[in-house]
Amino acid sequence: MEVLLDTRRQRKLLILYLFIGTVAAQCSKPEAGENMVLTEESLLKNDFPESSEVTLECSNGYEKASGSGIMNCIDNKWTEPDLNCKKKDCGFPKAEPHMEFNISQGTLFGSVVTVTCEEGYQISGSSYKHCLPRGWFGKASCNIVTCSKPTEVENGEHSWKSDIKPEYQQTIHFTCKAGYTMLGNQTIQCTKTGKYDSEPPQCIATTVTARSSTNISTLKQGHRIRSSEETNTTPSTSKKEQNIETLNVNKDKGHAAVIISVVVVTIVLCLVAFFLNKFLMRRKGSYDTGEDLKPELLQFQSL
Ligand SMILES: *[C@@H]1O[C@H](CO)[C@@H](O)[C@H](O)[C@H]1NC(C)=O
Repeated sequence: MEVLLDTRRQRKLLILYLFIGTVAAQCSKPEAGENMVLTEESLLKNDFPESSEVTLECSNGYEKASGSGIMNCIDNKWTEPDLNCKKKDCGFPKAEPHMEFNISQGTLFGSVVTVTCEEGYQISGSSYKHCLPRGWFGKASCNIVTCSKPTEVENGEHSWKSDIKPEYQQTIHFTCKAGYTMLGNQTIQCTKTGKYDSEPPQCIATTVTARSSTNISTLKQGHRIRSSEETNTTPSTSKKEQNIETLNVNKDKGHAAVIISVVVVTIVLCLVAFFLNKFLMRRKGSYDTGEDLKPELLQFQSL
C-alpha cells in the first residue's frame, strides 16, 4: 500500500513539476542581429520552450563568413549566435565589347559602378550597374557611332556603296567627272561625334575655273604690278621719269629742228650760191672791157 501511495504522489509531483517547468522555461521570440534574419522555418514557430533552437541566416545581400546561426533557449534566454555575415561581392562586372567600368566604389553589395564606352562608341541602356543580392543590375551595351550616308556630289562620285551607315573612323573618297575639278577634301572621315571631319568636296567645271582663275590671276598680277609701282616708286622718281620722257620728246623735236634747219640752210646756201654766181657773172660782164675779145686773150678764154 505504501509503495502504491508513493508512486501516486511521485506522479502528481512529476506532473506539477513539468507544468511549472514548461511555464518557467519559455523563451521570448528571438531577435536577429545585424545583417541576419531568422530562417523561414524558425519564423513560423510560436513557442520557444527551454532547450529549443532556432536558426539565423545572413540577410539578403550578405553571405556567411563563419558560424552556424543556431541559437538555443537555455534558462529563458537565447544563446548568442556565432554567425558572422559579410556583404556579397558581385565581382567584376561582365565586360561587354567596347565597355569600360569605373569601380572606384568597389564591387560589394550596394555599390554602384559607372558604365562608359570606348571612344567612338555610344552607350545604350543604363550607364550604372548596381550590385544587388542577385548580382549586377543594369543593362547596357556599347554601339559604334555612325555617320549619315554621304550625300551625292554633283558631277562627282563617292566610294560609299553600302546601304548601311558609315561607322566611326570609316572614310569616304570622292572623285570628280572628267572636266571637273575638286574643291575641298578628297577624303572625309566619320568622327566620334557622328559628324564628318569636313564637308564633302564640290566638283567645279575645269575650263570655266581655269579661264576665270587665269583671268583673275592676270588681273591680280596687273593689279599687283600697278599697286607695286604706285607704292614702290616715290613721286620724285616718277617725276624724274616724266622729265626723262619730256627730254626724250624734246630730243626728238630737236632732231626734227636740226633736219629742218639743215634743209633750210642748204636751200639758203643753194640760193646764195645761185645769186652769187649770177652776180659774179654780171660783174664779170660789167668788167667786160672787151679784153676777152682780144685775140691773145681769147686764146686763154677757150682754155
Ligand atoms: C580638310 O580636312 C581637314 C582635316 O581633315 C580640315 O581641317 C579642313 O578644314 C578640310 N578642308 C575643307 C576645305 O573642308
